[in-house]
This record gives sequence, C-alpha cells and structure tokens, in this order.
Amino acid sequence: MSPEPVIRHITLDGRELVILDQRALPSAERLLRLKNAEEVYDAIKTLAIRGAPAIGIAAAYGIYVHLANKDSFSIDGALDTVNLLKSARPTAYNLFYALARQEKIIRSGIDSGPMLDKLLDEALLIHREDLEQSARIAEYGAGLINDGDGIISHCNAGGLATGGNGTSLALIYGAHRAGKHIKVYVDETRPLLQGARLTAWELERAGVPYEIITDSMAGAVMQSGKANIVLVGADRIAMNGDFANKIGTYSLAVLAKYHGIGFYTAAPFSTFDPDTADGKSIPIEQRDPNEVLEFAGVRTAPMGAKAYNPAFDVTPSELISGIVCDRGLISPPFAANIIKMRDQELK
Ligand code: MRU
Repeated sequence: MSPEPVIRHITLDGRELVILDQRALPSAERLLRLKNAEEVYDAIKTLAIRGAPAIGIAAAYGIYVHLANKDSFSIDGALDTVNLLKSARPTAYNLFYALARQEKIIRSGIDSGPMLDKLLDEALLIHREDLEQSARIAEYGAGLINDGDGIISHCNAGGLATGGNGTSLALIYGAHRAGKHIKVYVDETRPLLQGARLTAWELERAGVPYEIITDSMAGAVMQSGKANIVLVGADRIAMNGDFANKIGTYSLAVLAKYHGIGFYTAAPFSTFDPDTADGKSIPIEQRDPNEVLEFAGVRTAPMGAKAYNPAFDVTPSELISGIVCDRGLISPPFAANIIKMRDQELK
C-alpha cells in the first residue's frame, strides 16, 4: 500500500506549522498557522489537533517553529518550551515520546544553528515514521476484517489523528480498498463528537459505507448482529496491554466480550509506555464540565447542574482480542508478547 496520507492535515511552511483546525470540522475546512509553542499548546489543548500520534507530531514541530522564530536561544528556555508542550494534555503517550526525542537533542548541548537543523530533521522524521507505521498497521491488521463485516468504531483514529491514514481506520480503509463489503457503525462519541464530526467526515471522503450511531446504541447494534467486530485506537498502552482510549471504549470492550465479538485496538509502538506497568497508573485527562453540559456549544442542562468529564477510560487487557501494532499483531498473553515485540526490535 502507498504510504501517501489520505488527508494532509499537518504541514510545515517555512517556520510555521500549518494544521487543519479539527474544531471547525465538518462545517469548515479552516487552516491554522502556528508560529510559537504557546499557539501549538493552545491548538493541542483545545483539540484543534488531536489523536495521540498527531499530537506528538505537532509538538515535535512546535519545538522547532518556536525556536526558529526566536531571536535568542538558551538551553533552559528550550527546555521550558518542552515542558509547556508536555503539559498540554496528560494521557496520549505519543506527546511525551515525541518531546523526549526533541529534548534529547536540546540537552546534547550543540550550537543553536545545527541544533535547529536537528530539531527540524527529527520532527520531519517523527512525522514520516508515523506515516509508515500507519501503513504497516494496515498490513498487519488486514486479515481481521472479512467481507460482509459490520464494524463499530469509536472516536477518531483515522488520518486526522495521525500523520498517515490512521490506526484502526487504516485497517478499514485497507479492507475497503481490497474490495471487501463492510459497514462501519460510527459511535458519535460524546461529548466532543469526534466520531460524528471527524470519522464520518473521513469515511464520507473515502466512500466507505457507514452509519452514525449514538454511543448508547452500540449494545443494540451488537445484539442485532449488525456489528461483529470493534476496532478502536489507543492513547497510551501499558506494558501489560491495558490501554487508555476515548471515554466509552471500556464500555464497548465489556459489550463485545458479552456478545462474543472481536475487540481490537490499533496503535504504533510509540503509544506503548515502557514506564507504565498497567492501566491503573495511566493519567486520565479531566476536561471542562461544560463540554458535557452543552451539545455543540448549546447549553442542554439546567443552570447550576454539575458534570463529570473524564476524556479517557482504561480497558483492561483481558477484554482485548488483539493489539495491531506497526511491528505485528500482538495476541494474549499481552505482557509477555509486548516485551517480546519490544526486544525483537532492539536486536
Ligand atoms: O481526545 P482525542 O480526540 O484526542 O482522543 C483521541 C482518541 O481517543 C483516539 O482514539 C486515540 O488518540 C488514537 S488516535 C490514532
């Protein structure tokens, strides 16, 4: 498969990072031009760019554009910039993975000129690697989708969430291109509607058959036999296979287990956190309660109402059928097989 992305939503234009503003989709295709770390921080925090790999790529470019547009350079100042971007969102591991790569270059202590070149090269490399990883995920997961399948997807793990064609959505694009007759049941994904707004936008463009469902319909869709597999992305995978993904993912895993249907997550190895043994220690982002109290910006709850708004939940590995990664398909027992996969690469 060609490693060309279906959507080119992250580009570098000289010393500016240009991204498609995902907050405006699907109503408007608006570009944002970001020149410093504060603007990149804001874009990540407010979900103008979102999805674990895409956040990592934006942050890596963010370091470069910030330093390239500054008149003076200091290592301490550059490390402050790294820390600012690290604080944009806590759950997606790719943010920390990409920033650790940039931080290593900053700490190397080389002169600011060559350092800027290296930071640029590293950001471009992280972007290119993600594109290639997305293509490999599609290859390794190709056998999971059969002709006639009904697939439940959650949130957006497509091109908009990565530098390539996505993680779980890359499998779906691959199956569609291979001529398999599939139908995707797109969870709308309350409260911010990444499914209804973004996944549906992508599938519409790609001509993949789909229907949007509210999150609460997933059980009924499985019970009726319309869906026979669930495919989701991941924000952070612990070394035992527990993983954090968009709130609602855990419920889907429980439902899939009850109905005896396959439940797979797909992610590049850069989403695996080597320092997190299990899901209990994955930090979960708490977002503004107003996201729950409103629907598309319109208040739907009585004034004075309170809301709980965790952006992610953790799915325990015993509920997962497999993890499709850019190094292969990981099956249970996850703890042993994740270590095997990590060590294989180091040889
Ligand atoms: O809050 P978001 O939109 O950044 O959440 C994104 C997800 O939960 C995705 O499923 C995950 O990042 C994987 S993207 C390939």
